[in-house]
Amino acid sequence: MARKPVIAGNWKMNKTPDEAVAFVRELTPMIGEFDDVERVVAPTFLALAAVAAELRGSSVKAASQDAHWETSGAYTSQVSASMLAPHVDYAIIGHSECRAFLNETDENVNRKAKAILAAGLKPIVAVGESLEQNEAGETVPFVRSQVRAALDGLAPDDMSRVVIAYEPIWAIGTGRSASGEIADDIIKTAVRDTVSELFGMDAAEEVRIQYGGSVKPENMEEFMAQPNIDGALVGGASLVANDFAALIEIASRVKGRRSANA
Ligand code: PGA
Repeated sequence: MARKPVIAGNWKMNKTPDEAVAFVRELTPMIGEFDDVERVVAPTFLALAAVAAELRGSSVKAASQDAHWETSGAYTSQVSASMLAPHVDYAIIGHSECRAFLNETDENVNRKAKAILAAGLKPIVAVGESLEQNEAGETVPFVRSQVRAALDGLAPDDMSRVVIAYEPIWAIGTGRSASGEIADDIIKTAVRDTVSELFGMDAAEEVRIQYGGSVKPENMEEFMAQPNIDGALVGGASLVANDFAALIEIASRVKGRRSANA
């Protein structure tokens, strides 16, 4: 079964609501035809409703950059998955920046994944090792433990709606990326095989796994050519319409319905 590639642009703390709306107006005509690739943009919470309204009727989807696990209550600064549900299809959780700066824990990532699924949305669960862990040869056991914790208590059926983004922290925003082959190997052994152990082979075949970390038009083909990489979570290059559109065109060419690999 072919997995539909999913390319998500994580805008992080960039673009005001006006800038975000102007950007999607520029972007959507450039990427509208590539409906064999799921195309997702993740603005800040502040810009999300305006971007979602602009995207209504288009095949481009919105994502939030986080989602709280409770539906409402005394959680200053937070936005719940159920509040996000009318506006987005996806919610990114567990990003390494949130793990580093906002104390995101594996336990909370798991709670959020459950709440996002319960709200009818799709979680994009980010995992990945630090440079020190990578150099100490701890990548695979560490990423496996993040995947196990994030997916704890989910059901095999949920895997058709879960996206996992493998993002080595040392590759995020640094211009350094893992090679396609190494990323594919880690994604296979640390992510897909873990999903298989937890939920069975069918679920592991179905779950979509992105690579993230300095993805750009120049290296996109190398990642998309890998059998276990089903898309990309993109920071910097997603802020430039031409670059993001180029990534989507490459994903469609290499992995979409026109490709030999589809
Ligand atoms: P980058 O960010 O593409 O700028 O490295 C990726 C991410 O943080 O998701």
